[in-house]
Amino acid sequence: MTEFRLIQVADLHLSAAHDYHSDNWRRVAAWIAREAPDLVVVNGDLVLEDPDAEADHAFARGMLEKLAVPRRFLPGNHDVGDNVLFGKMAKRVNDERRARFLRHFGEERWAFEAAGWGFVGINSQLFGSGGQQAEAEQWDWAEDSLRRYSGRPIALFTHKPLFLDHPSDADHDDLTLRQSCIDRASRTRLLALCREHGVQLVSTGHKHQTRAFSLDGIYHIWAPSTACVNGRPDTLHWGTREVGFIDYRFTPDGFTHRVVGADFLFRHENYVRKLGASAG
Ligand SMILES: [Fe+2]
Ligand SMILES: [Fe+2]
Repeated sequence: MTEFRLIQVADLHLSAAHDYHSDNWRRVAAWIAREAPDLVVVNGDLVLEDPDAEADHAFARGMLEKLAVPRRFLPGNHDVGDNVLFGKMAKRVNDERRARFLRHFGEERWAFEAAGWGFVGINSQLFGSGGQQAEAEQWDWAEDSLRRYSGRPIALFTHKPLFLDHPSDADHDDLTLRQSCIDRASRTRLLALCREHGVQLVSTGHKHQTRAFSLDGIYHIWAPSTACVNGRPDTLHWGTREVGFIDYRFTPDGFTHRVVGADFLFRHENYVRKLGASAG
């Protein structure tokens, strides 16, 4: 039976100047080279922190160019800026930052077919843009792409999760919670499209936590970060606080997923590093 093996990596957080996470990335890259999957989807936050750090984009691109397998890219908040209406970072998405990402990685959304599935990747940072033309264009494109694959199973990839607890959640007042997922209005519109066209999987990153559940016939899978975990251990976490990546296998009958890497990557505690930096 036709099988399409797709490795999703997310939240690589690479930097030219800071070697915080490249030890993990080298191990992930070696694993990918050994396993030779059909595709690697890089689901956002390639860059350490600052979306305007040109050298970090170039460094991440260089690391990814070394992979000898096909790749697809989607941006995260640290690559093109945070969402205008519900983000937290001072730097928000705009045309200039998106153009930089496109210059380095060649795409911010994509759609293709394999093993009887439709695969659609979208830029989560454009949701809640406050009226940017690029957001309207992406909605048109997403509707066209999902319609094209209607009638077969569809897997949707985007950086930010659609919600934390339930699609009916109000937008959180707390900024940290609010920036964790897509805003309610965009989520409602996107989930209606997902239901209309037969999306069976929504695969995301951003939270640096692993989670896999289903609701109304859609699996929502949060991929861990390949780089680090965030937040103190005693803060509220929705998923498992671990590092790693997802090994997907798609066939016309369905898909399987496996979380890989927690047993051979460093769990780099991001909050410890930041405590050190502020004390020093
Ligand atoms: Fe991240
Ligand atoms: Fe992120």
